[in-house]
Amino acid sequence: MIILKSPRELELIRQANQIVAETHLYLAEKITTGISTYEIDRLGEEFIRDRGAIPSFKGYRGYPASVCISINEEVVHGIPSKKRMVKEGDLVSLDIGAFYQGFHGDAARSIGVGKVVPEVQRLIETTEQSFYCGIDQALVGNRLSDISHAIQQFAEARGYSVVREYVGHGIGRKMHEAPQIPNFGLPGRGPLLKAGMTLAIEPMLNAGSYQVKVLNDRWTVVTADASLSAHYENTIAISADGPIILSKI
Ligand code: MF3
Ligand code: CO
Repeated sequence: MIILKSPRELELIRQANQIVAETHLYLAEKITTGISTYEIDRLGEEFIRDRGAIPSFKGYRGYPASVCISINEEVVHGIPSKKRMVKEGDLVSLDIGAFYQGFHGDAARSIGVGKVVPEVQRLIETTEQSFYCGIDQALVGNRLSDISHAIQQFAEARGYSVVREYVGHGIGRKMHEAPQIPNFGLPGRGPLLKAGMTLAIEPMLNAGSYQVKVLNDRWTVVTADASLSAHYENTIAISADGPIILSKI
């Protein structure tokens, strides 16, 4: 069942997402060569708690940190570590969730550290653009897979593959609500989109094949062929006047 949100609930989800968006801007400033992923996580958690929110991911199914930090061939769910330093040229994906006033916010960004090779920049930009192709289809009366299809079309036209095993999701009082939102598929399938739906749309694009595997830490998802991967996610609301991005300032 897809839970439709009232205007009052939408306002609270927006507030949770604004905290997530601010945390992303704050951390983007902090990420430079030599910082450990542990320190990025620590700063992120502190920032979220200072705003009266709780990091959504900490303790979720045993996840040990507040910010998922996935570098280069890591796709999602990388675990912060004191031993892992960010270095020049890295592609760093940060995924952040915040629980505030009973609702979750969820968003991910990928950034290049210092001077990056053109391939890193192009993958980051294409991943973000594929999100916007998806949200262009997030219209009342469209079907869910119209979003999925638009993301896949754009990504593959630019030579990238779309991760199949991890998907976007509805979001609200729970971080993961129905529906699941694949980033691939035929158009015109799945539930009709309605005003009041809140969705986390999160394309993960790989430079090589779409296949992934999970490392022995049981969390870190990496590309099977060690190719680069980027992630971009926003929480959006569907409205009669079109989609609204809740996780941007
Ligand atoms: N944004 C991710 C998601 O939507 C992060 C959750 S992973 C966690 O599923 F386990 F760390 F919480
Ligand atoms: Co998500």
